[in-house]
Amino acid sequence: YGTTGVNKDGHLEIGGVDAVELAKNFGTPLYVYDVALIRERARGFKQTFEQQNVRAQVAYASKAFSTVAMVQLAEEEGLSLDVVSGGELYTAITAGFPPEKIHFHGNNKSREELEMAVDQKIGCIVVDNFYEMELLKAICLEKQVKTNILLRVTPGIEAHTHDYILTGQEDSKFGFDLQNGQAENALTAALPFEHFNVLGIHCHIGSQIFETTGFILAAQKIVEKLAEWKERIGFESEVLNLGGGFGIRYTKEDEPIPPSQYVSEIIKEVKKLAGEYLLKMPEIWIEPGRSLVGDAGITLYQVGASKDVPGVRKYLAVDGGMSDNIRPALYQAKYEAVFANRPLAQASETVSIAGKCCESGDMLIWDLPLPEQEDEDILAVFCTGAYGYSMANNYNRIPRPAVVFVENGKATLVVKRETYEDLVRYDLPLK
Ligand code: LLP
Repeated sequence: YGTTGVNKDGHLEIGGVDAVELAKNFGTPLYVYDVALIRERARGFKQTFEQQNVRAQVAYASKAFSTVAMVQLAEEEGLSLDVVSGGELYTAITAGFPPEKIHFHGNNKSREELEMAVDQKIGCIVVDNFYEMELLKAICLEKQVKTNILLRVTPGIEAHTHDYILTGQEDSKFGFDLQNGQAENALTAALPFEHFNVLGIHCHIGSQIFETTGFILAAQKIVEKLAEWKERIGFESEVLNLGGGFGIRYTKEDEPIPPSQYVSEIIKEVKKLAGEYLLKMPEIWIEPGRSLVGDAGITLYQVGASKDVPGVRKYLAVDGGMSDNIRPALYQAKYEAVFANRPLAQASETVSIAGKCCESGDMLIWDLPLPEQEDEDILAVFCTGAYGYSMANNYNRIPRPAVVFVENGKATLVVKRETYEDLVRYDLPLK
């Protein structure tokens, strides 16, 4: 996993920093990010576009992990930024991210959120539905400003990890339906409005996808329509945004293809289609979230209580759980882990890792081979960088963990650990 290794003390090392030291210095649970790996992933995506000489934007989907430092890292790496709420937009602005490189998503943006986006002159607003289109038109008129927009369409492809469901009319809360004329109606409603600049079309087919087929199918369906629209409406799309969703390897069972392969196959297909339909090659935008930060994140926990259910299983509890990683409980997501203080020790038993929340469903990993527990063991769970911190919560009034960035042997605290005072900060007394 990235720059993770084992140091001379036999401890897990991340970005040149001893994980046991990190746990000691910053406490547990602790989210640790290998910054070099995030940079490598970002450059991988960007270089693939550059090598193929295609105009592109790689927008980091900040829902995967949004903090001021992360947004600044995205900026350093020349990424654009996808935000989906006023809160993510505010984080980006606070981080000093260039507004013209921010794209705003969401199926129910409020008037306040849209006004904020327009006032900040962000790069584009991805219009999701007719309600929003009218709201945004009114705002642009009131403010007498012109806004770049993309139209989000649902191409009728639902990508699951290994199979694709094609439906005539996709049952999704997002976007304008491409097949039944909705998308075309949206386009003809947007084009004549002089305060809109319609840059192009967006779609997002799913997340944790392991094959390129879904992206290719989506591109085909959209480009077919673009050809029709060029003919009938005279609209030529400058941008084709194919969303995010590139899968990563959480456990040995996962077999994703390299990120650059998704990109090069997508480029190849769009080039081919543009040629066939005699369209100008659009700028290609993608929105990776998980594949930029997922495997760069490791969560460190202090191991505590254990319980043996003879003949059934052994539970080993850590000092966090569904409050810092809700994915196993929510999606049956799987993870791998080792003891950070002795990652190479031989496994001698199979244990199931429990969280500390008052809920039987709060299990992080089932049936993990580990050496027998010793005092002071620190568990390191891999690949927690995406949708871990960003979906963390205060269930059972557990304070959210701190976040640390490590790079070149140096650790930097980027999010402070919440305190008990933080938990009651907004509570008001009864009288
Ligand atoms: N673009 C759009 C429009 C999206 O809706 C998403 C994710 C992305 C980009 C980024 O997708 P990624 O590259 O990260 O797969 N909480 C779930 C994942 C939800 C993804 C929602 N949309 C999880 O923990 O697996």
